[in-house]
Amino acid sequence: MELNINTKSNHNDTAHTAHIKFHREVIDGLKSNPKTLPSKYFYDKNGDGLFQQIMAMPEYYLTKCELDIFCNKTVEIANMLTAENEPFDLIEMGAGDAMKSSYLLKELMKRGVDFTYMPIDISDNILTVLHNKLKADMPKLAIVSLKGEYFDMLYQAASLSQKKKVVLFLGSNIGNMEFEDTFSFCRELNKNLSPDDILLMGFDLKKNPQTILNAYHDKMGITAAFNLNLLTRINREIEADFQLDQFQHYPHYDPITGACRSYLISLVDQQVQIGEEKISFAKNEPIYMEVSQKFSMNDIEQLAQNSCFNIIGEITDSKNWFVDSFWKKI
Ligand code: AVI
Repeated sequence: MELNINTKSNHNDTAHTAHIKFHREVIDGLKSNPKTLPSKYFYDKNGDGLFQQIMAMPEYYLTKCELDIFCNKTVEIANMLTAENEPFDLIEMGAGDAMKSSYLLKELMKRGVDFTYMPIDISDNILTVLHNKLKADMPKLAIVSLKGEYFDMLYQAASLSQKKKVVLFLGSNIGNMEFEDTFSFCRELNKNLSPDDILLMGFDLKKNPQTILNAYHDKMGITAAFNLNLLTRINREIEADFQLDQFQHYPHYDPITGACRSYLISLVDQQVQIGEEKISFAKNEPIYMEVSQKFSMNDIEQLAQNSCFNIIGEITDSKNWFVDSFWKKI
């Protein structure tokens, strides 16, 4: 079966609604105090490319650690997911280029496991590239691409098939939520699953604060460009006139809370036209852009318990910097 849930008939409507939502969220964020912009909008075509560059940077250890797990512990992961020997849908939330999960896909294909891969992403571009790449590597892989928000697409996946669900949420993507919001997010995930479905989540662990800060403050300025790219996107898509050289990327890590936060600091008093609105920025005023939360093993346990999952396994990388945690819905 091969299907792409993004029919042409509803494509224009969806794009229009998404544009209105983007506009509204940008204005709401910049009118709030402190100012903020939603980091989920980092990922336009240029943002996708910059994120690829981030993942390849020496300072950005997260991808390498999780790749270490998927590349060197593939057999253990596949054993965990196939223990019950029944067909399943392997849903990947925020699939990106599936660099890590493709090791698992290959292992499952090699074993002749009956599964369908369902990547979810909000980026059309990413899904198309991914589909073509996976089909070239594994022509027999069953893929159903789901373009949209996570919960809408989980709902979609459940309506497409009754099979057991195994959901991957890798890369510490969960860290891009405020810590208190991760609890309601996991409870919502739980509601969208059936008993015995499995959730495999990647968490970046608390570690030396300097190591963490360096990952978001690279010497090449790629992370700065990644943040500033959202201003470029706003300029292009909602007719704004941000001058990028008037803003500076500033990351900060708090080793007590585990929150690594990125800001863009206005370097001067300035006014920016955004569509119909004029927004004032004071010199040194921050726009809060993104949180990349870091977790302790205890945080992860609390999170699983609080959202009605049992932890059934944990695999860490060789440095113990990152963990992939296997949860089963109770
Ligand atoms: C996607 N996410 C887990 C990345 C992170 O580490 O928070 C996004 C990122 N932002 C800056 N660098 C990477």
